[in-house]
Amino acid sequence: MTDIYNGAPVNEPERQMYFIEECKKLIDGMGLFADGKKPTYHISTFGCQMNFRDSEKLAGVLESIGYTLIDSEKADLVLYNTCTVRENASTRVYGRIGYVGKLKKEKNPSMVIGICGCMMQEPDEVEKMQKSYGFIDIIFGTHNSYKIAELLYTLLMNRKAKEKDPSLKTRVIDVQKEATGIVEDLPVKYDSTFRAGLNIMYGCDNFCTYCIVPYVRGRERSRRSCDIIREAQDLVAKGVKEVMLLGQNVNSYGKGLEEDITFAMLLDKIASVQGIKRIRFMTSHPKDLSDELIEVMARHENVCKHIHLPLQSGSSRLLKRMNRHYTKEDYLLLVKKLRDAMPDIAITTDIIVGFPGETEEDFIETLDVCETVSFDSAFTFIYSKRTGTPAATFEDQVPEDVVKERFDRLLKVVSRCSAANAARLVGTVQEVLVETVGHELSDNSSGNTVESISTPDGTTALTGRLGNNLLVHFVGRKRLIGEIIKVQIDECKDFYYIGRQI
Ligand code: 5AD
Ligand code: SF4
Repeated sequence: MTDIYNGAPVNEPERQMYFIEECKKLIDGMGLFADGKKPTYHISTFGCQMNFRDSEKLAGVLESIGYTLIDSEKADLVLYNTCTVRENASTRVYGRIGYVGKLKKEKNPSMVIGICGCMMQEPDEVEKMQKSYGFIDIIFGTHNSYKIAELLYTLLMNRKAKEKDPSLKTRVIDVQKEATGIVEDLPVKYDSTFRAGLNIMYGCDNFCTYCIVPYVRGRERSRRSCDIIREAQDLVAKGVKEVMLLGQNVNSYGKGLEEDITFAMLLDKIASVQGIKRIRFMTSHPKDLSDELIEVMARHENVCKHIHLPLQSGSSRLLKRMNRHYTKEDYLLLVKKLRDAMPDIAITTDIIVGFPGETEEDFIETLDVCETVSFDSAFTFIYSKRTGTPAATFEDQVPEDVVKERFDRLLKVVSRCSAANAARLVGTVQEVLVETVGHELSDNSSGNTVESISTPDGTTALTGRLGNNLLVHFVGRKRLIGEIIKVQIDECKDFYYIGRQI
């Protein structure tokens, strides 16, 4: 089949732009959609912001080929962008794949099904897909998702060849073990017109002993600051108000680049981009959070006073076993420095319960940090054993019932603290980025929904995001979506607010 690549440029992104055009021609030429219908696609994304950002890039390429997005898996092309950070993420993926296989068999045999993302960087998972899910057409990983046009082209050519020789296999599998360079300048389809994720780096070098990410996302690679700034400027020109800088550990940005730059320097540059209204970033590793960064955050009004600072555990003994490179005291000192510089800063975190060897004493240390810091919100996770990570081989795994009991206790403390913090804003006026019509909200106690607020004057229930990352529901005109406005915070419902536009 190698001759199908004759004429393709060697360098990226030119090569993929070439395959985008070839796919277009093929789809038209094959008369696949001769009835004038545009082919449709659907991407189902699991996991973190990184994956969502990757899906926007996949969507950008597919739309350039001529596919149109639809909101269900009854599409001509369905992609699953998978996550493997905890076991339940993987389980959910298998559920969806079973469903789509049935759809393909019963409704649309020519459907293209692709699976990509972190799970596909694990050889065992790829083998399982190959053996047990014959209907999957394309398998690729995190390091080469920019190649979707080329992979799709190969599949379509394989299908063409099979028409002549039915004994041929069509499936395309391309998983790269290691990342090669960063490919810039391919098309992107942004999910939102006013909020955007912006990758500043890829991969992780930290090897926390519980975590699979360094194995599936590869070594740390930072993008050049000029490429990042250019993208930030483009986003502003498109009307984006809020930019989220993304990296597994943004605080170690710059390592390995020719230019001499730190994350604090980069943030300073981005915050100075003309017209950029709000900047957030995640995730910050406590071991690399510098005084310089705190100073830059405090100095720029458009940097949200919010930091996501994963604690993982409050026990210095466990933190050592987790390979986190900080102690409970180091963490508390960082929080103090952040609050000294920015008294209203919202601090959110990730916590793992039931890491191997966690004793009641260790767990009490975690509760103690939660009480002391009083996090604005915390993502709490039950430890999940990931094959291939050092912690999976630790012998002192904690019994399930003990973990469950600790998890419930932690949740109570965390919820109480975040509700108390949230309540502090009642009575204040806050800047809010209006995001959606507020249909998600339902107040279970009364059975009312905010949508049910009657608005004969053409206003509707809206939802917006505060600088602290919490949502507020209020009534306003739909055209405010995408704007930053002032809202009076009237009521706190623990995890969200009810307010009034002023
Ligand atoms: N088990 C439970 N939680 C995990 N995380 C990462 N790996 C695991 C695991 N094996 C959590 C960490 C991390 C977040 C993204 O996911 O808290 O910060
Ligand atoms: Fe995983 Fe640790 Fe890297 Fe975060 S810093 S992605 S928890 S290895």
